[in-house]
Amino acid sequence: MRQTIRPARGIHGVITLPGDKSISHRYAMLGAIAEGTTSIVNYSTGADCQSTLGAVAALGAGVEREDGVLKIRGGALRAPEGELDAGNSGSTIRMLSGILAAQKFDSKIGGDASLSQRPMQRIIAPLTEMGASIEAREGRFPPLTIHGRELRGIDYTLPMASAQVKSCVLLAGLFAKGDTTVREPVRTRDHTEIALKEFGAEIEIVRNVITLREGARLMGREVTVPGDLSSAAFFLAAALLTPDANLLVHAVGLNPTRSALLDFLVSMGADITVIDVQQTAGELIGDLRVRASRIEGGVMEGAMTAALIDEIPALAVLGARSESGLTVRDAAELRVKETDRIAALKKNFERMGVRMEASGDGFHVPGKQAFHAAEIDPEGDHRIAMAFSVALLAADSPGVIDGSECAGVSFPEFFSTLHQIAS
Ligand code: S3P
Repeated sequence: MRQTIRPARGIHGVITLPGDKSISHRYAMLGAIAEGTTSIVNYSTGADCQSTLGAVAALGAGVEREDGVLKIRGGALRAPEGELDAGNSGSTIRMLSGILAAQKFDSKIGGDASLSQRPMQRIIAPLTEMGASIEAREGRFPPLTIHGRELRGIDYTLPMASAQVKSCVLLAGLFAKGDTTVREPVRTRDHTEIALKEFGAEIEIVRNVITLREGARLMGREVTVPGDLSSAAFFLAAALLTPDANLLVHAVGLNPTRSALLDFLVSMGADITVIDVQQTAGELIGDLRVRASRIEGGVMEGAMTAALIDEIPALAVLGARSESGLTVRDAAELRVKETDRIAALKKNFERMGVRMEASGDGFHVPGKQAFHAAEIDPEGDHRIAMAFSVALLAADSPGVIDGSECAGVSFPEFFSTLHQIAS
């Protein structure tokens, strides 16, 4: 599909976003192994989260929709008939592998061309230490053939900042003999820890060290997924780079391990107000108001980069319009996302006549740049497609996103929402 994006002078309105992708995956997986039924309100509409649902259904969980509420009947899993399909979703394959490694059956899990190039050694190493038996293409890529085994708890220090790897080890730990400890180099999103507690596991967190006690008994429950802050990032960026904007984002997730986005935007000069914060199943949820602002630019590195890893494409676009530009460091992980996002940003910025200097693990975009309309190639990466849609709002004439359907990986309603608020 080709989506045309016209320049916009303003962003106005009230929007509600589909459920957070990270939290949706976790609720579906925990619901599938918990006793009884889990009811999930506002489950993500993204294709990635549908991949998780397809996989847990193939493993024997009951998956139904009743009046817009997703119901998952959980319990013991059974061997799937064919290969499990994680589609484009790194979260599905990496987190579910932790569960699969501990089952009494063998399974195989793979995905699309992009996922098939993504590194799996990062989960194979700790799972193998727990006693798992996993074969991978060339020892490190999907598909994975997982021979279910009895696992033992380990004390694992993550070599990189990755919530998916942390979650994989904790989910495997649910079935393991002994406690499981994960130590993080920097704190990453903690939705797994929060959800595990909510479903009844005993878990202790002391700074960057998480310990799951052996023998957890999970019980199904009713949960509501907050709107996805990573999806909101595109509209926040859109509002901040159009001359006239006043946008309310309703009921969005404000978990502190994710809301560094707001701190960073505010540090760049963004006028963002957080309104009416509440808690649901241990997660914070609230409304955001954003108004057009003068954006100064900024430098992102270390723990901040890890906390903003999914928002960097949107922030790069904003950075190129800011006063002093954006510098991103310590972002080697961007090279192994759905695409090499540093390369995809550079290529598409070049098409728009925008300068960007890339290094192995970061980049710099100078500020105050003019955006020229272009045909964008997101290379099948949803966040690249959405970030450059925002960029085209600030271009000199209409531009096109080629293969725009990839936005559906996390946000099928993205273009209709954008058209609704842009004028
Ligand atoms: C996610 C963790 C991050 C993030 C991804 C979702 C999660 O990946 O980029 O979009 O839900 O745990 P990594 O664990 O590879 O950093």
